[in-house]
Amino acid sequence: MGGQFELVTLRNGHRAVRHVGHGEVMHPSVGPWAEANALYVTQAKLSERLSVPGAGPLRLYDVGLGAAANAAAALACWRALPEATRRPLHVDSFEVDLEPLRLALSDVGGFPFLAADRAVWMALLERGEHAEPGLSWRLHLGDALRALPRAEGPVEVIFHDPFSPESNPTLWSPAALAALRARGQEGGQGTVLFTYSASTRTRVSMLLGGFCVGVGDAIGTKQETTVAASRLDLLQRPLDGRFLQRFERSGARAPFGEAPAGWEDAVRSHLQFR
Ligand SMILES: C[S@@+](CC[C@H](N)C(=O)[O-])C[C@H]1O[C@@H](n2cnc3c(N)ncnc32)[C@H](O)[C@@H]1O
Repeated sequence: MGGQFELVTLRNGHRAVRHVGHGEVMHPSVGPWAEANALYVTQAKLSERLSVPGAGPLRLYDVGLGAAANAAAALACWRALPEATRRPLHVDSFEVDLEPLRLALSDVGGFPFLAADRAVWMALLERGEHAEPGLSWRLHLGDALRALPRAEGPVEVIFHDPFSPESNPTLWSPAALAALRARGQEGGQGTVLFTYSASTRTRVSMLLGGFCVGVGDAIGTKQETTVAASRLDLLQRPLDGRFLQRFERSGARAPFGEAPAGWEDAVRSHLQFR
């Protein structure tokens, strides 16, 4: 699938990877490293999670490995913690095309955050896995939805970073989100998912996929992003009646992909609005 991606320099000076076909740029607003940290690692409180005593391994799904900015930010977070007390980290990365990572690794100056763990990224490219004490990493090459049933669970943190629902609708459908939700956990730390999309349609898909859904932090010019969770108490800013009012007025509220029968009433009667 080579040749579908190119390296670009953003107006803010950061280097990024762009899909030549639909033109979408990975992490366009504030650059890959800043976005990976702000939107995914910081919002997930990954450092605090990895420091919970006695909680066992933390499993993270990295949906859309791309140029590995989110992956590298998670790994840097884990490495920064004291070896004696940090939880083991198990990561499953999902990706259909390794060209973005190859391109980013070829541009050492443009993607400096890949340098510290270059051996890990090379191992994923060459062998599809990496392991060292306390860390295991598996690359699932191919469609994430097909790979999910083979990925180990339960997952605690999901970085949901495919291309946008407009260019990449299958990974934003209620069925896809339900498949992710099914790999999650109820008890313990529960399961939390972070993504950049804040559209009503995205949030409807997530509600129909069985998640509770909340507002995520702003990034760049985006005023909101989205956080989803297996339990309502895990959300700091759950969607409430104001979302339902917007939903009733919205002309673009159908979920992505196939809408399950009775989906509008399923949204209205979702447990988080009761
Ligand atoms: C926005 S980019 C990911 C950026 C990446 N998270 C990073 O930090 O650099 C989206 C990625 O999802 C991948 N992708 C698209 N459809 C996919 C699918 N069905 N399964 C797995 N990966 C997919 C694309 O090839 C692309 O690399």
